[in-house]
Amino acid sequence: MTSQQIRQQFLDFFQSKNHLIVPSAPIVLKDDPTLMFSNSGMTQFKDYFLGYKEPKAPRIADTQKCLRVSGKHNDLDDVGRDTYHHTMFEMLGNWSFGDYFKEEAIHFAWELLTEVYKIPKENLYVTIFEGDASENLGRDEDAYQFWKKHIDESRIINGNKKDNFWEMGESGPCGPCSEIHVDLRTIEEKAAVPGIELVNMDHPQVIEVWNLVFMEFNRKADGSLEKLPNQHVDTGMGFERLCMALQGKKSNYDTDVFTPLIAKVEELSGKKYTGILEDGKDIAIRVVVDHIRAVTFAIADGQLPGNGGAGYVIRRILRRAISYSYRFLGMKEAFLYEMVAILKKEMGSFFPELEKQEKLVTEVIKEEENSFLKTIELGLKRIDLIINETLAKNEKTLPGSAVFELYDTFGFPADLSRIIAEEKQLTVDEEGFNAEMEKQKQRSKKDSAAKVHDWVVLEEKPEIFVGYDQTETETYITRYRKIENKDGEFYQIVLSKTPFYPEGGGQIGDKGILIPSYVEGFDLSNPSLTDVKDCSELIEVLETKKENNLIISLIKELPKDAGAVFYAKVNTEERRNTQANHSATHLLHEALREVLGTHVEQKGSYVGPEYLRFDFSHFSKMNEEELKLVEHKVNAKIKENIALQEYRDIPIAEAMEKGAMALFGEKYGDKVRMIQFGTSKELCGGTHVKTTGEIGHFKISAESSTAAGIRRIEAISGDQSAAYFKNLETHLAELSQLLKSKDITRSVEKLMAENAELKAEVEAMKKERAKAETANWKNEYQDHGDKKLLVKKVSLDAGSIKDLVFGLKKEIPSSVTVIITDAGQKPLISVGVSEDLEGKYHAGNIVKELAKEIQGGGGGNPGFATAGGKNLAGIDAAVQKAMQL
Ligand code: ALA
Repeated sequence: MTSQQIRQQFLDFFQSKNHLIVPSAPIVLKDDPTLMFSNSGMTQFKDYFLGYKEPKAPRIADTQKCLRVSGKHNDLDDVGRDTYHHTMFEMLGNWSFGDYFKEEAIHFAWELLTEVYKIPKENLYVTIFEGDASENLGRDEDAYQFWKKHIDESRIINGNKKDNFWEMGESGPCGPCSEIHVDLRTIEEKAAVPGIELVNMDHPQVIEVWNLVFMEFNRKADGSLEKLPNQHVDTGMGFERLCMALQGKKSNYDTDVFTPLIAKVEELSGKKYTGILEDGKDIAIRVVVDHIRAVTFAIADGQLPGNGGAGYVIRRILRRAISYSYRFLGMKEAFLYEMVAILKKEMGSFFPELEKQEKLVTEVIKEEENSFLKTIELGLKRIDLIINETLAKNEKTLPGSAVFELYDTFGFPADLSRIIAEEKQLTVDEEGFNAEMEKQKQRSKKDSAAKVHDWVVLEEKPEIFVGYDQTETETYITRYRKIENKDGEFYQIVLSKTPFYPEGGGQIGDKGILIPSYVEGFDLSNPSLTDVKDCSELIEVLETKKENNLIISLIKELPKDAGAVFYAKVNTEERRNTQANHSATHLLHEALREVLGTHVEQKGSYVGPEYLRFDFSHFSKMNEEELKLVEHKVNAKIKENIALQEYRDIPIAEAMEKGAMALFGEKYGDKVRMIQFGTSKELCGGTHVKTTGEIGHFKISAESSTAAGIRRIEAISGDQSAAYFKNLETHLAELSQLLKSKDITRSVEKLMAENAELKAEVEAMKKERAKAETANWKNEYQDHGDKKLLVKKVSLDAGSIKDLVFGLKKEIPSSVTVIITDAGQKPLISVGVSEDLEGKYHAGNIVKELAKEIQGGGGGNPGFATAGGKNLAGIDAAVQKAMQL
């Protein structure tokens, strides 16, 4: 069976058991401060478990792209060194949301594995949770009883909290779990050591394939467990491992998920993959074929490599692949980008984002490779140096801080340092390394988010967002929690009804105020601030964000009565400008696609009250003409004053049929909101103007590049472009006043022409003056020994002096001419010796001697020489010296 068939059979099986089959969610998460990437199938359903959102079906199944490279689940360092861990992998999963529980979950799994996939029963083992006293939880007797119906008791193994209690992260939904392990060894191997002894022992052929989690609890921020309102099932089966089991292979890398990629690395590097565990070359090939998948899927889902957050993680994965292939495969030039086409060919039919984003992903990876290849040599030299220093001191461990520095400053993977150290029989001081790592974590923790306390829930109630239609409303606080960050203590609140738009889709979150109904002078039935006596009681909303499905506003201090009724008011001036920019962004997107082509896709945006920023895929710099045309097209739409058509809550299929633009990597529900301005149609959750005329004038202020294949446009509209033109007008008015003319261009042209004329006149006059001044010099030579000598101190510019000296030395035989000038603030000495004296006097030597007085140097031939200097004050001394010649 091919991997494609295996995947399909899984989905078909659960469809036949009344599960709704949904697509994989994007690998990169937005709106979730506790997690960067989907790290298991259940990530996209977190809100269902917590009761924040209604599940779209009680039974769901899918295959989910997962990435385990940060946070609680991090396998990065192991990848390549074994045969079954991956950064990116597919997790096949089935879910019950308050529907079936342990019995059916166990039954379904057993039926699929043994009857559909036909894995021999004698190769399977299962584990159950043995209980944990510290959590006050007993053994999972129910699971035990249900398993007993399918499998002999001797194959049911107790497991501890580490292996059999599954948690998504530090907090969140969790519960006891039951794992299914498969023994893939030969008959002889099984006879020698019973499989049961190898379960959970990191044996590469006795592995866990499926984890059935029985979600019953929520782990709170304070570490305690809270019972969830309903019981759910969350399962996850490692797709690549399942393929290994069903295709009779000994390693995930020998399945058809990886073999086409391996073949390509072999072709490009000329190295053969032999599947040896400890071999540097084989490790490197496994690293490459694993990492290229993670990086490709992440970029296709919209996460570009970068310097912080999720972007940094992706950059590190890519750099790990580059380092390994550089060191062990001898790949000194970019090549990873060539693997993208293979991935598209193998997986593009199931994951269409690979087809759609191929060009962009390829470009981005190539550029990243080229830039890292420039620094990797430095990293390798540095580690050699550290190794040599360690050997010279007769020590056996590399200092942890040095390995950390390599990792931190050179982007050099620590596990690669370990391998290189091992080659010299050295080890890394892991304690020192971990200590440095911990210090860095603490530093970045301090910089970023903060200590988050548990929610204080005043009322369990879903919140209502009214901000599309209203900017003010009566409301009350349903929950709040304290947070502490580097700026101090704050409170986050959730309102029963909120007009505040939460940051999202590039648009910044709303600010505003909450007016407590108890404030003296405030009347809820006639809400106006005019009579409010004490404004210090108003509560400022500093920002609004979305977290999972909650809209959270940030305030500095809790109101004195948190249970009171409040009147919430959005800062409408900011909101108005922001939405002008947001609507302008949609028009810009459309215009770019018209002018540059339909390969243009949004890759990121910022929409705030001051300006908008729009990043999009395009492969060359935009020229003036294109920019003008785009600007013109947007302004034409604004002039048409097109009315907003908003489709709220329409089925996604309907929106797509109407021609809506969806963004890659964006997670859309079944029901979406579509924003239409004439021909511009986008899926969008933001707030917008009612008619395009409200946008005012649209003006592009900058065009630049942010990464390979990504351009950025910055622009203004609304009040900002009005202010921009007002400013311009003031400037012009000032100029016009200065020039005393209405036609500024004409006046400036006239001024420039006049200026040129004057300049020419000045030049001519200077020449005249020089001529007049020097006309008499030939009569001023004095006899001095065997020669005629002229020494002159003047203020002429250097250009005219040379001609003058040449003229004089020709006209006056047996002469030495010395002209010293201070023109241009720097002293310059010029010396001429007439031809008949050239044997006796040497202009170059004379000038050298004289130049000492002006702290200068220079030289020349016997007939003519010049020297410049620094010391104007030395001119007189130079003159004196010259007189002595
Ligand atoms: N969420 C469970 C896991 O990732 C199924 O193992």
